[in-house]
Amino acid sequence: MSKVAFFQRPRQKIMKIRSITKENFLSVLGDQDKPWQRDYLAMYASQWRGATSDPELMLIPIDDHLVHRGDGVFDVMRCVQGKIYQMEAHLRRLDTSAKAISLDFPPEYEDIKEIIKNLVLIGAEKNCLIRVILSRGPGSFSTNPYDCPSSQIYVNIIRFLGVPERYYEEGISLITSDIPVKKTFFANIKSCNYLPNVLMKKKAVAAGYPYSVALDEHGFLAEGSTENVGVLTKDGVLKFPEFERILSGITVTRVFQLANELLVDGMIRGVDFARISPDEAYQAEEMFLTGTSLGILPVVSYDGRRIGKGVPGPVYTELSSLLWKDMTQNRELLTELDWGS
Ligand SMILES: Cc1ncc(COP(=O)(O)O)c(C=O)c1O
Repeated sequence: MSKVAFFQRPRQKIMKIRSITKENFLSVLGDQDKPWQRDYLAMYASQWRGATSDPELMLIPIDDHLVHRGDGVFDVMRCVQGKIYQMEAHLRRLDTSAKAISLDFPPEYEDIKEIIKNLVLIGAEKNCLIRVILSRGPGSFSTNPYDCPSSQIYVNIIRFLGVPERYYEEGISLITSDIPVKKTFFANIKSCNYLPNVLMKKKAVAAGYPYSVALDEHGFLAEGSTENVGVLTKDGVLKFPEFERILSGITVTRVFQLANELLVDGMIRGVDFARISPDEAYQAEEMFLTGTSLGILPVVSYDGRRIGKGVPGPVYTELSSLLWKDMTQNRELLTELDWGS
């Protein structure tokens, strides 16, 4: 384009951008309705060494490399009826994720269990989700993690809403996703880079499905956007994909252990981590999704094919009640909080 043509374009009206200062910041924050914040209960940030229950203040600095590079790791656990389920396992996985990307823990991390317990009490909701994020911290806008003098912890608590009850009663429909799975190294880390997972969810929802499952490069079932998958094969073996190409789900690990009870009862013939092809899944007696926020969900249709009898099956029902009992009564896996009387 010649200079003349450029100058001949009509002048754009320049938008007046209002100036935000320390003085007007709080009133600016509060001047919009944000209904999605309704269930935000509490947040801790290590840089303030404090907590807030005001959703307007639940902010992360834009120069934290978590924001502009996804340079951080996280984990999500659940508080059920006032007790935190599997806190140790979730913190262990957070530790593994952080070490995998050489992310040092800030000094405040020493108190992480106390921070979590206190924050849940500040949130004052006995059924909630606890998200712990470890970020590279503020430093610059580059990719260079050495620009960041101190990593940071953010913890937030949101009310547990769960998925619609009919998903458990009627089962859900699942489709195969065409979004490529992450390479092993990245799949095993619960990092704040969830773009493939986001795109999986987006495509599923746009196609009218609540969930989708990705295949690995050999064409075997991998994982959902934030769920693990499993099948009960037609010869009675409960199978879950190996953790090689996926995140090692804490729920699926527990379901696997609990399934041994069904083995003893003779309800299933085996339980295994193994490769599952879509064909094997299409012919399965039952199919499931597992995850922290949904527990275990029955899948009754996969890629438009009916699974089993097309209704939640007996193995699902049994696993679901074993898991719920575990989540509410297994004292070894539950962290008590002091809710007062
Ligand atoms: C990619 C992915 N796979 C599987 C899971 C299920 O893991 P968990 O049972 O520990 O919640 C999650 C949960 O966050 C996930 O993000």
